[in-house]
Amino acid sequence: MIPRAAIEEILYRADIVDVISSYVTLKRAGSNFGGLCPFHSEKTPSFTVFPATKSFYCFGCGAGGDVITFIMKTENLDYPSAIEFLAQRVGITIEHDDRASKDLINRKRVYEMNLEAAKFFRSCLFDPKIGEEGMTYLKSRGMSGATIKRFGLGYAPRDFGMLTDHMRRKGFSEEELITAFLCGKSQKTGRAYDYFRGRVMFPIIDTTGNVIAFGGRVLDDSKPKYLNSSDTPGFKKSRNLFALNYAKDDCAEEIILCEGYMDVIALHAAGFSNAVATLGTAITSEQARIMAKYTKKVIISYDSDEAGQRAANRAMQLLGEVGLEVRILKMNGAKDPDEFIKKFGADRFRHILKQSKTGFEYKLEGVLSRYDISVPADKIKASGELCSIISEVYSAVEREVYIARVAECLLLSPDGIKNDVERLRGKKMREQKKLESREAMNSAKNYGDRVNIDSVKNVAANAAEEAILGLLLTYEEHRAAVANGKVELSTDDFFTSLGKRMFDAIMELQVSDSGFEFSLLGETFTPDEIGRMTKYRLERGQLTRNGIDVLLTSVDKLKKEKLHEQEKHGEDKFAALRRKRQSAVEQKNKNL
Ligand code: GTP
Ligand code: MN
Repeated sequence: MIPRAAIEEILYRADIVDVISSYVTLKRAGSNFGGLCPFHSEKTPSFTVFPATKSFYCFGCGAGGDVITFIMKTENLDYPSAIEFLAQRVGITIEHDDRASKDLINRKRVYEMNLEAAKFFRSCLFDPKIGEEGMTYLKSRGMSGATIKRFGLGYAPRDFGMLTDHMRRKGFSEEELITAFLCGKSQKTGRAYDYFRGRVMFPIIDTTGNVIAFGGRVLDDSKPKYLNSSDTPGFKKSRNLFALNYAKDDCAEEIILCEGYMDVIALHAAGFSNAVATLGTAITSEQARIMAKYTKKVIISYDSDEAGQRAANRAMQLLGEVGLEVRILKMNGAKDPDEFIKKFGADRFRHILKQSKTGFEYKLEGVLSRYDISVPADKIKASGELCSIISEVYSAVEREVYIARVAECLLLSPDGIKNDVERLRGKKMREQKKLESREAMNSAKNYGDRVNIDSVKNVAANAAEEAILGLLLTYEEHRAAVANGKVELSTDDFFTSLGKRMFDAIMELQVSDSGFEFSLLGETFTPDEIGRMTKYRLERGQLTRNGIDVLLTSVDKLKKEKLHEQEKHGEDKFAALRRKRQSAVEQKNKNL
């Protein structure tokens, strides 16, 4: 168990706005903060953080709770691990005597394991007998010895057990090696075997210097081209960037975002030490936020093929959403930055970096290249597409600028374009609102069913329960009134089984030595259930009348409803009895 004093200290020090801002872009709205919910997909913000009550709630999907619930949900941790996670963040060491910090111990162990494996792969690469083909391959890709060393590259031998044997000798168990995705597990024998074989190895290093994972590339054209470690206790692909450990010191102005490890390495070797790449997946909003912490501007340098350009569009959107200035690099005559630099050199690359286009210019060029604007029908289509693009732009000033630019390119009047843009914008916003409110309604409905399955059986009883729980969760005086018997209320009065559990837990904390504390409920309830309790609290907070009279009225209502329910069931029972008697009589009559 984690000592309560430690939990309270963490809650005191971990500012909820600060913690959540590292995952969600928050904007101040009065005394609260709003943003796009990280737990469901939405375009207009319904996620709110309430500094006063140290809680968050999403009015769209019903997720809510305190800073611990937030970490449980985003980091996918259980209650003790989420507390450990926050403790680390605020710089508290928790004295514990059990396995509460299992995840963190694992994490450290995974890092140790990876470091050892990275050393092993490196020594294999530099071993002339074992690593020759790996070294030949890297050299054939134009890598110098210095670059290979700087990136800690290695080679995984073709053998099935060399790494496994080595690691076992170093004291790592097969189970640990499998957890870290350094080993696979044989279906037949259940034994561990080397996961990466016959591949050049790229260690992935986080900004504090831990080796958190590996990517491994084959030496020929076989598939899959790359193998990457799956997510482990120490590693989430969506939250890391390749080479950010080097780039972070040289990227205050701009970051070059590439698709491939090879591109990044080639760029660094050519002097562009501000290049990073995602880890074999499309860019996530978390990665965008991480970049926003280090830089102001991102130049997207994706492959020049269609897939690369599609991915660039998506990246442009995500990076823009976190407030980054975005540029897109256009490469002619090469499929990716690696090839470009080899063919044309670093100076030419520096030149095209300077020429990189803003998102709008890039899209404008795309549209203009597809239509012949001297043909009226084409001109209308081009204008339609561009108006649609501009209508998505949030800033009115930006829209103004783009409208002028399109008018100039298409030789049309800005007023006409402006009319079309504003009309489209109105239409899109109405559609968006409709869609989101429908989604919110659906998810709220399903959500209700999932979290409190009994709630639909008696709407009035449920409403009374929610009011009571909201009051008890918010006011010390009301909890005290129930605890000392001034308000007569017991578990049996509650109608839903979730309500019963919540009431029990609240009162148990209330009468404990150190009293009630909302955050401790996280130990007993799931994040979804905590979200529900946050909603109850919030609803009370929005009302002005929350006195003892309201509590008493609600308790009365609940008890009456409960009685009704019993009578209803009682009647049913009698009805069944009557039917039974009736059929017995009929049977008797038949027999006569
Ligand atoms: P080269 O083809 O050797 O130049 O590699 P590259 O680093 O340029 O990779 P490419 O542009 O083909 O792909 C971009 C990134 O996607 C790679 O760096 C990997 O992270 C990832 N990737 C590519 N192929 C695969 C694959 O088969 N499996 C997985 N999991 N990831 C891949
Ligand atoms: Mn490539």
